[in-house]
Amino acid sequence: MSKKVGFIRMGEVEAAREEREIGVGLLGYAFMGKAHTNAYIKMPIFFYPPPAKPKLVAICGRTEKAVSEAARRYGYEKYYLDWRELIKDGEVELVDNCLPNNMHAPPSIAAAEAGKHILCEKPLAMNAKEAEEMYRAAEKAGVKHMTGFNYRFIPAIRLAKKLIDEGYIGKILQYRAVYLQEWIMDPNFPLVWRLRKSVAASGALGDLGAHIIDLARFLVGDISSVCGMTETFIKERPLPEDPTKKGKVDVDDVFIALIRFKNGAVGSVEASRFCAGRKNYQRVEIHGTEGSIVFNLERLNELNVYSRRDPEDRMGFRNILVTETVHPFFEYWWPHGHIIGWEHTFIHEVHHLIDCIVNDKPVAPMGATFYDGLKCQEILDAILKSSEEGRWVSIPS
Ligand SMILES: NC(=O)c1ccc[n+]([C@@H]2O[C@H](COP(=O)([O-])OP(=O)(O)OC[C@H]3O[C@@H](n4cnc5c(N)ncnc54)[C@H](OP(=O)(O)O)[C@@H]3O)[C@@H](O)[C@H]2O)c1
Repeated sequence: MSKKVGFIRMGEVEAAREEREIGVGLLGYAFMGKAHTNAYIKMPIFFYPPPAKPKLVAICGRTEKAVSEAARRYGYEKYYLDWRELIKDGEVELVDNCLPNNMHAPPSIAAAEAGKHILCEKPLAMNAKEAEEMYRAAEKAGVKHMTGFNYRFIPAIRLAKKLIDEGYIGKILQYRAVYLQEWIMDPNFPLVWRLRKSVAASGALGDLGAHIIDLARFLVGDISSVCGMTETFIKERPLPEDPTKKGKVDVDDVFIALIRFKNGAVGSVEASRFCAGRKNYQRVEIHGTEGSIVFNLERLNELNVYSRRDPEDRMGFRNILVTETVHPFFEYWWPHGHIIGWEHTFIHEVHHLIDCIVNDKPVAPMGATFYDGLKCQEILDAILKSSEEGRWVSIPS
């Protein structure tokens, strides 16, 4: 007779209940708030057994109707309208900061002082001084800290790093990265927080450039000097609160910078939100004495590689589908090389952080710590300074 119903035995239910949980307090419920929540929900399903099961304790935003709806929709037990209350909550062990850039430092420092682990979105701060305060506060408190550079968690980027570290492309000569979008080309697009210096600090630079600058450090190494330029194409935009009035756009619409690495390599980075047809186009090329590596975010399961060591009659770029279980994270995903997507980067990111918290492992070098956030911030500041002063600017060592 076939068994039609299976019951979980009591012991198993209790064992499941005894799984280590980690209380998550999320600041911000919108774009990144949703991406991170999705990661906390999916992580223990796929990364089984998880180092700890995220418990969605509380979420915070200023608009009660929206934040209470988000709490219900995402499954948080409580909501707060003041981030200070969320940090005080005794059930919150990990504070996840998905607020706009000007709200990264105060809650992150307060969270560290309250002994909570912290994940803070990029760019880490408004400037390097603030980023350094955040880094020092987290180190002093002895909590785990991570900057949300999620592209470090793409399997193809991990393969690029492995190949570089193994010397597959020899000594690195050149890094070239662009991050291009088109979403503010309409002059009637409103003056949202990302276009206000007092909230965002910079435009395409901090928003998109931060990612490819972090990847430059992750894949190639520390940067010693930069020479940058910025431009703002549309100087005024309708105010979201009153579209009949306009306000000044005081951040960059585009930036382009030349970079020198400490190891002698050279490079260029650029980002724009004015590239018609480009949706979320991030392309990274690394050239070495023995070959090249090319990554395209819109083809994130693939890595293009070229080796000068290949036999001459079959030299050429090869496209590796980076979806087999030999590659990082794929032992947890679908079988037989099925592809994954952008949202998976956040699942990998929170798994890494929670594993580091629970098993007291270092977040670096695979994850970006607040130190990495600070080093990136120094480069962002230097590019703005270089653009203002029209000269090369050195990065503090
Ligand atoms: N890693 C990535 O790929 C990636 C992608 C996008 C963004 N980001 C970064 O993530 C951060 C958030 O960006 P986002 O796109 O998620 O922004 P968003 O969609 O505008 O969401 C911001 C959230 O913060 C809340 N908020 C704003 N000020 C607040 C305050 N003073 N107190 C409490 N809540 C406040 C907003 O709700 P209320 O208005 O109701 O307060 C909203 O829920 C930024 O630093 C951004 O650079 C990273």
